[in-house]
Amino acid sequence: MKLPPNARFSTICLHAGQEPDPSTGAIVTPIYQTSTYVQDELGRHKGFEYGRTQNPTRLAVENNLAAIEGGKAAFAFASGMAAIAAIASMLQSGDHMVVSDNVYGGTFRFFEQVLSRYQLTFSYVDTSNLDAVERAVTPRTRMIFVETPTNPILTLTDLAAMADVARRHGVRLAVDNTFASPYVQQPIAFGADLVTHSTTKYLNGHSDSVGGVVIAVRDEDIEWLRFVQNSAGAILGPFDAWLVLRGTKTLALRMRQHNLNGLALAGFLDAHPKVRHVYYPGLPGHPQHQLARRQMRGFGGMVSCELGSLEAARRLLNGVRLMALAESLGGVETLISHPATMTHASVPASRRAALGISDGLVRISAGVEDIEDLQADLEQALDRV
Ligand SMILES: Cc1ncc(COP(=O)(O)O)c(C=O)c1O
Repeated sequence: MKLPPNARFSTICLHAGQEPDPSTGAIVTPIYQTSTYVQDELGRHKGFEYGRTQNPTRLAVENNLAAIEGGKAAFAFASGMAAIAAIASMLQSGDHMVVSDNVYGGTFRFFEQVLSRYQLTFSYVDTSNLDAVERAVTPRTRMIFVETPTNPILTLTDLAAMADVARRHGVRLAVDNTFASPYVQQPIAFGADLVTHSTTKYLNGHSDSVGGVVIAVRDEDIEWLRFVQNSAGAILGPFDAWLVLRGTKTLALRMRQHNLNGLALAGFLDAHPKVRHVYYPGLPGHPQHQLARRQMRGFGGMVSCELGSLEAARRLLNGVRLMALAESLGGVETLISHPATMTHASVPASRRAALGISDGLVRISAGVEDIEDLQADLEQALDRV
């Protein structure tokens, strides 16, 4: 099992970072459920000393994810938020970060309610607007942190143009690629320095693990992230590492179906008289549809729609039978949620209103079920609206 140097995406997903187990030949990397490793003699070991510092299952998934995103190294963490915390630890007191104004609510909460206590400052900017980003950069800016597409409004940021802005100002570009997945878009290829994922979502893909990862390209960033992963200790456990490793084997297969179902559901909702607006970059009416075509492979599985009122949203959310009313996204099963009271409840109401996260907004994470069943479920639930 040798990965050819010019291996393509699916082949990389399946094989990168994994060798048959040297002691048994097991084709699947085992779950090394151990806290420590016996050393051969004083000062001589096999590269593994202590479970927080190194673990072979975690190393396999890190090498796998680094290859999938086209980075040099990856570091796996206990959650997507722990991964974002590791990126933020690259800043020092007094530093400033420019952040997409529509980032995941938990990211906003962490920056505003935790990191602001440590003399770090953040400017939330519509990163689809390059001039606005330019204007927000100050001499203290060290990083631009972008989410594209944004959650749940699905606004895009032009990654190549943003990498250019970051380079000109000598700051890092970090991209939260959770919503798209690396099948749909690879930020490092557009010039990003750091990519992060909540592996909880598409990378694991089966709604049975919580985790996060940071992928880096610069040696100094890699050295710092390795140090922080061990020093702060928010590591991904061996079983979760194994689950993500299993998940990425089918990432390309799953994403093709997520893309197909996302596009079909967006089209269905767009044509439905009870739906006022659909947010989906694959629709020709999306203001950044041309950018989506350039930057993304398919348009992803996330679709949001505006029903006009909390009551209408409630009827839809309570009316679905096949779709599950739940937080999270990126799993094989279709989830439906209400951003204003669920994922974005920690964002103040005035900010939600400014971002378009109204009480009538519903978000769907299209799974990989048969599309006819998903459409029939929405149809019968919309009948009650
Ligand atoms: C875009 C995005 N980034 C980060 C996170 C945080 O990930 P986790 O829940 O694994 O900590 C989430 C969670 O929903 C997310 O949607």
